[in-house]
Amino acid sequence: MEENKKVMLTGDRPTGRLHIGHYAGSLRRRVELQNAGVFDEMYIMIADTQALTDNAGNPQKVRDNVIEVALDYISAGIDPSKVHIFVQSRIPELFEFTCYFSDLVTMSRLERNPTIKAELGMRKFGESIPVGFLTYPISQAADILLFGATSVPAGEDQAPMVEQAQEIAHKFNSTYGEVFIEPKIMVPEGVSKRLPGTDGKAKMSKSLGNCIYLSDDEKTVNDKVKTMFTDPTHLMVSDPGHTENNPVFMYLEAFAKDEHFAKFLPEYPNLDALEEHYRKGGLGDVTVKRFLASVLNDVLSPIRSRRHELEKDIASVYKVLEEGTKAAQEKAATYGLMARRAMGINYFENRKFIEKQQKAYNKAHQQQEALAAYLAKNKKS
Ligand code: TRP
Repeated sequence: MEENKKVMLTGDRPTGRLHIGHYAGSLRRRVELQNAGVFDEMYIMIADTQALTDNAGNPQKVRDNVIEVALDYISAGIDPSKVHIFVQSRIPELFEFTCYFSDLVTMSRLERNPTIKAELGMRKFGESIPVGFLTYPISQAADILLFGATSVPAGEDQAPMVEQAQEIAHKFNSTYGEVFIEPKIMVPEGVSKRLPGTDGKAKMSKSLGNCIYLSDDEKTVNDKVKTMFTDPTHLMVSDPGHTENNPVFMYLEAFAKDEHFAKFLPEYPNLDALEEHYRKGGLGDVTVKRFLASVLNDVLSPIRSRRHELEKDIASVYKVLEEGTKAAQEKAATYGLMARRAMGINYFENRKFIEKQQKAYNKAHQQQEALAAYLAKNKKS
């Protein structure tokens, strides 16, 4: 084990472009962590293998979105000179150790995983649950453990995955010897709730068409905000309104800074003042939405323009992924080697073991020969 190294690993499934929920929930934090330099090594995985666990029949969706996610990462501020961005399917050890780890986990433990339970409910597999889907927490444990990750920044929904990774590390270490580090999840600070969709549904999802993407242009953002779901009891401007569980205010809580008020809505010093007015009555949704659109466009504008530049040279973005993947391969190979040694399945490099087996055979042969000689001698006499 490499002592005291701080290693971050996290990832996303490439099933669509990233939206402002991803940004508020995790991406923004990763950029901050990168810039603060708290980690010795940082890895971000584009989890194409995991994306295939429920998209086996649609590999093109996964394939097309690898580059989209990479573009979103880099335009949002991930710096490939500090963070290894890599593609999951290109790391052989992840498959190898998914297999060994599978022997350390029971079926009932997998079925108890609350995230899997919730996802099975949403995915309508019926009786036809793909084995790879049910077991993806094991594969995700490999994602984390084969990089010696100490921290996994991810949303609350990933806590059961990190817990399973801890259990697998513990089980492996106690069975075969200390190799893997038990990782800790790092849940996002500040934003306590996942951003809802623009339609007020609990989650932003591509299939529901209720997302604001990092790559949306200004007009698209304005249009999407204009049609956003707000407080359904706030019928007239003079009516008192609710700010809690109101998507417009939840977005503002995630993105509006005092500077935005000075710039776009100087009648209010900050969000508290705006919320107070809304709750009291006399503040219309149109005003609030116009402000939200300005805030979002202000946040997204530098991301958009970086993306625009990157889109001019897609080959070089793939090059970035290739280099990140190379670095990730080296890291996983190191852990793979240590783990194979601990398990004693490093047959071809294990000279000592080969010598030991040879000695045992030599001894057995000697004994057989001695016995044969003894019997031959006794027969004769
Ligand atoms: N399960 C994560 C998601 O759905 C993606 C993921 C794959 C991941 N491997 C990981 C996250 C390892 C953190 C660490 O978003």
